[in-house]
Amino acid sequence: MEMLQEGEIAYLLDDRGRRFWVLLGKGMVKVNELGVVDGNKLIGAESGSRISLAGKEFWVLRPGILELMESIERGAQIIGSKDAATIVHHLDLKCGDVVIEGGVGSGSLTLSLLNAVGPEGRVISVESREDFAQKARRNVMRSRWADCCELKIGDVRMIGMDIAADAAVLDIPDPWGAVDNVRGMLKGGGRFCAYVPNTNQLESVVNKLRSGGFVEIHALENLQRSMEIHAGGTRPSFDMLGHTGYLAFARKVVTGGEG
Ligand SMILES: C[S@@+](CC[C@H](N)C(=O)[O-])C[C@H]1O[C@@H](n2cnc3c(N)ncnc32)[C@H](O)[C@@H]1O
Repeated sequence: MEMLQEGEIAYLLDDRGRRFWVLLGKGMVKVNELGVVDGNKLIGAESGSRISLAGKEFWVLRPGILELMESIERGAQIIGSKDAATIVHHLDLKCGDVVIEGGVGSGSLTLSLLNAVGPEGRVISVESREDFAQKARRNVMRSRWADCCELKIGDVRMIGMDIAADAAVLDIPDPWGAVDNVRGMLKGGGRFCAYVPNTNQLESVVNKLRSGGFVEIHALENLQRSMEIHAGGTRPSFDMLGHTGYLAFARKVVTGGEG
C-alpha cells in the first residue's frame, strides 16, 4: 500500500463534498480556504483515511486523473474527462507511446495524455501562445509524469520535428490547416484526432482527411448524463452539459514514395 508522501498533492474532502487541495509537507502547511493545518498528520496516511484537522473531519485522498483535470487552473476552453477518455481510447494510447498535441490551452487534455503514456512515453505539446503555455506548465506540473511532457512554443501547422509519433491530437480552431504537417510526423498506421466545437469545423477537417493519406475516418459526439439517485426516485440530472465538441478520428496510411 503506497502511503501519502511529502511532496505529492492530495485533497481533503469534507462531509459536504468540498475538496481542499494540499501540497503535502512536514510541519504546518497552507490549504486554500482552510488556513494552516498540521501536514505531519497527512504524510504517511493511507489515501481514503479519515483525518481530523483544525477541529474538522476530512477524508484525505490521493487524486486520480479525473480530480486533477477537474481542479486545473483554467484559461481557454478545456477538454474535460468525457472527451479526453474517448480520445485516449481511440488513439490507443498506452505507456511508452509518443503523442503530438497541438493547442495546449490550459493543459487539461495534456494531463490525460500524460496519464496514458507515462512514465515511458512522451507528450510533445505545441502551443502558439506563451501566456497559455505558462498556465499549462503549472497545471502539467501536477501530473506524476510531468517529466514526460515537452512543451514547445510554435505553430503546429508549421513546426518541424524529426519524429514518427504514434498519435496526434489537435484542439485548435483550424485543424485542417495542420493535417499535412502533423501527418508528416506520424508513423504509418499512426492515429489522428481533431477536437472541434462546431459542425462546420468538423466538416472541414473530415474533408481534409478524406483528401488523402488517411483511412478509417470517422467522427462522433459524446453525450453524458449524470444520474440523480434519491429515495423517492432516480432520474437523469437536470444539469446536463449539452455540448462540448465533436471528435474526428483517422489513421495514417503510407502512400507511394513514402515510408
Ligand atoms: C481550446 S485551447 C486548447 C485547450 C486544451 N485542449 C485543454 O484541454 O486545455 C486552443 C489552444 O490552441 C492554441 N492554438 C491555436 N492555434 C494554434 C496553432 N496553430 N498552433 C499551436 N497552438 C495553437 C491556442 O493558443 C489555445 O491555447
